[in-house]
Amino acid sequence: MGILIDQSKKLCTIQTAHSTYQMGVGTYGHLLHYYYGPYAEGDFSAMLRFRDRGFSGNPYEAGNDRTYSMDTLPHEFSTFGSGDFRTPACLVKDDHGVYGADLRFVSAEVKPGKYSLPGLPAAFASEANPYNDRNGFSRDLYSVSHDKENTEIDHTTETLIITLADSTVGLTVKLLYGVFPEIDVITRSAILTNTGNKTIYIDKADSASLDFLTGDFDFVHFSGRYGTERLYHREAITEGVKSISSIRGESSHQQSPAAILCAKNTTEESGAAYGIALLYSGNFKLSVELDQFGSTRFSAGLNDEMLSYDLTPGEELTLPEAVLSYASGFAALSQHYHDLVNFHIVHGAWTHEDRPVLLNSWEGCYFDFDGEKVIQLAANAKDLGIDLLVMDDGWFGKRDDDTSGLGDWVTNEKKLGMPLSELAKRIHALPMKFGIWIEPEMVSEDSDFYRAHPDYAFVIPGKKPVRSRYQLVLDFSRREVVDAVLTKIVETLKPAKPDYIKMDMNRSIHEVYSQIAGYQNRGKLLHQYVLGVYDFITRLKEAFPEVLIEGCSGGGGRFDLGMMYYTPQIWLSDNTDAIERLSLQYGASFFAPVSTMGSHVSAVPNHQTGRSTPLATRAIVAMAGSFGYELDPAKLSDEEKDAIRTQIKIFKNYQLLIQGGRYYRLTGPSLGITHTEGYSATGYTAPEAAMAWEIVSADAKRALVSIVTKDQHCNPPVCYIKLKGLFMNQMYRISIVLKSTDFLDRREEEALTAPAYTGAILMQGGIAVPYFAGEYQSILLSVYQA
Ligand code: DGJ
Repeated sequence: MGILIDQSKKLCTIQTAHSTYQMGVGTYGHLLHYYYGPYAEGDFSAMLRFRDRGFSGNPYEAGNDRTYSMDTLPHEFSTFGSGDFRTPACLVKDDHGVYGADLRFVSAEVKPGKYSLPGLPAAFASEANPYNDRNGFSRDLYSVSHDKENTEIDHTTETLIITLADSTVGLTVKLLYGVFPEIDVITRSAILTNTGNKTIYIDKADSASLDFLTGDFDFVHFSGRYGTERLYHREAITEGVKSISSIRGESSHQQSPAAILCAKNTTEESGAAYGIALLYSGNFKLSVELDQFGSTRFSAGLNDEMLSYDLTPGEELTLPEAVLSYASGFAALSQHYHDLVNFHIVHGAWTHEDRPVLLNSWEGCYFDFDGEKVIQLAANAKDLGIDLLVMDDGWFGKRDDDTSGLGDWVTNEKKLGMPLSELAKRIHALPMKFGIWIEPEMVSEDSDFYRAHPDYAFVIPGKKPVRSRYQLVLDFSRREVVDAVLTKIVETLKPAKPDYIKMDMNRSIHEVYSQIAGYQNRGKLLHQYVLGVYDFITRLKEAFPEVLIEGCSGGGGRFDLGMMYYTPQIWLSDNTDAIERLSLQYGASFFAPVSTMGSHVSAVPNHQTGRSTPLATRAIVAMAGSFGYELDPAKLSDEEKDAIRTQIKIFKNYQLLIQGGRYYRLTGPSLGITHTEGYSATGYTAPEAAMAWEIVSADAKRALVSIVTKDQHCNPPVCYIKLKGLFMNQMYRISIVLKSTDFLDRREEEALTAPAYTGAILMQGGIAVPYFAGEYQSILLSVYQA
């Protein structure tokens, strides 16, 4: 495993435990992509064929040879200007506005360790899995699910640097590859440097571009909308370009910077699956192009809309990191990303600690609170076994609704009736942890901060700004703006000694105009804005090194792997309806581990949908995330309070397994386009009847299985759900940890819990979804070695 450079053949091969990635230098010095897929050895340049293709030009050096065309060969980092007409990885314009870059290979070198990217999030090497040795977890998470025979795991990471250059345009590109061999992950980034003596403009820049000579693929992406983020979509790739992107200044609720290219027959269990995910929280574009000869190009990078990044001589642009992984089946692919996020992206306080169970004030009282009410919320929460009280929006400036106050990061002592430090002290004295909400990137027009610094906001001179939630976006591309906001927030929060900060962001960016640099930097402004946001969080974390920071953007507007680098958990969605959350958590689970997904139990009827679901169902769904509550405990009956006390005990008992175990989707469309897995023979499909998921311990001795029933029908057939990740010949027993209602027939409960089952029965036969009366019932099962 590792990076192999064959200098004589000019071949670079990256080997991970189960995948191989290969590129090489073509006859005229272009860097060509030969192979990415299951582990293989050999020189894949043998696959290339050279034919004379009309309207596909040839490098000048090829002379009269019309068979060598950049338009038909597979590339590693294609530019418009070399003769390739497919989606370029890079579009470079010189100071006359001419596009003509033609990059040629200069060198390749391998360095130990993983590169980092200044100012940008990047996966890092970590020595050990922090979950090892805790509560009976085996030494290695990989020994079970990836390769049962292999206990020798290579934890080393390496970096490959390939340098390409075009001396005419004056551009040097350093392609960076980070290799995490044991989790089959290859990261990519690039540093673009102006090595000429005139300004050049980067009008498009992909972090990674992958060419596949063969393959008939589907494209899986996670599109949605506010309140309904990251829904699973799978579609066939047809000729032309399909892209998903954001130009909102944030990665967005609507599209996600993570997608999968997969074979037609790929299911959870098997079939080629290629993931690509950007560690980036701003404007991005992922695209798939099926070209004239059936080759596919899959690329990810900065969105080229509104991008024209000027590089003066000597200046460089570092591109966000893209994370690639190959796996057989979606389950293994997701587990690669879960491990990458858990052990190589998330870092800082609370990363691998048991996260506190929290009560967030938002749906409990919105803006309608004072200090005594918040302290009462905390006391009531403590009585239920909750660890942390979060005071959400409304504690600062003039902020009794969302029309004013953003930017004024001073405690509204009149509203609270006390200083923030006193409120926090009284909560800490309960004892309870104390958390607080901020929205640093925004300013209300009705605020002292805006009145003092109108130029700090993105506004186009002479044009009224687009309004969104009555607020404007601050120009975080400017250091002094970040400094001003950060200084004030730190000064206000420090005396309160918070344990948790929720960092929100509640509108997209329309006005791409910096008051200080005017039009001059509009082509780089939104990237620099994202760098400013990362700088803000980095320095916020330095100011509060022990604090757990939860990301948020009206729920999941910035739920991306870039933000996960800074915030170990992110509020998944403002939609807290347990049944809607099933699809949201399902979609998010393809790239994000449950530890990152903020999930709360809220009151019924649900505030977003009006739907009522049993309390246990809401808890079972929220437990597949960083768990908490978002309601007013004073409005609960004694019976509900007791139920919540039990839920919290259950969650804490299983928290380590939930945060550190292997996650499997047991139902849903990804189980197979043939719709056989997890479905009953009668055509009564599991996703209609129920959603189910499973978290398995590293040693496969324990698992938690959650099943939530959805539609209810008269006289339904039995629906079976096949478990995953267990040992075939091991005997297991099942106990009921939590259920929303009793079984209609007690004999069904006995049939589930009395016998011991082999793993084979549970995985190849399946367990029957209980026949419950009523909709939205649920059950949480513990499966353990008999
Ligand atoms: C949007 C968030 O997603 C909510 O949880 C809440 O914090 C509100 N903002 C407060 O304005």
